[in-house]
Amino acid sequence: MSITREQAHEILMKYMEGERYIQHSYAVECIMRGLAKRLDPERVEFWGIVGLLHDLDEEHCDWEHDLSVHGPTSVEILKKEGVEDQELFDAICSHNPKSGVKAKTKLQYAVLAADPMSGFCKAVAQIYPDKRIASVKAKSVRKRFTEARFAAGANREYMSMITHTGLTLDDLIDIALEEMNAISDQLGL
Ligand SMILES: [Fe+2]
Repeated sequence: MSITREQAHEILMKYMEGERYIQHSYAVECIMRGLAKRLDPERVEFWGIVGLLHDLDEEHCDWEHDLSVHGPTSVEILKKEGVEDQELFDAICSHNPKSGVKAKTKLQYAVLAADPMSGFCKAVAQIYPDKRIASVKAKSVRKRFTEARFAAGANREYMSMITHTGLTLDDLIDIALEEMNAISDQLGL
């Protein structure tokens, strides 16, 4: 069975407790929806679900010691919940290349790039006195992107992979800021 957004959200709430993780899931969901509007407009909801569930196993596997389990454990959880959707499973695993699944499709490159971009935009927002995403300009994101020491954990290489979808890094930045701003209350930004 594939799932609706409502079912995906129910599963997320059942397995994810940390507020920071939940906000991150919403952030990647909204960026994925924004990317889908440009890349796969018929399937905006599905792309969003991939974003929403990409870190489902965050609190259920020991990824700090073995990163390869991050992704496959989400698949196990989803199967246990009765979900059967190979495209969803592969996309979730591909957001973590260490899982052994390398991105090949636009959907997979999109989640690989959207994941670090959500955290990166949040990090840029933290610089501003009001810490609001609404204060962040695309130009500042681009400038910080070139500063390797700024938000060093946000993988520049993965964000740049967005070009494999036909969009540019600037497109990704614009879409991320617009979509995150639209749900800033949910993101605590
Ligand atoms: Fe993530």
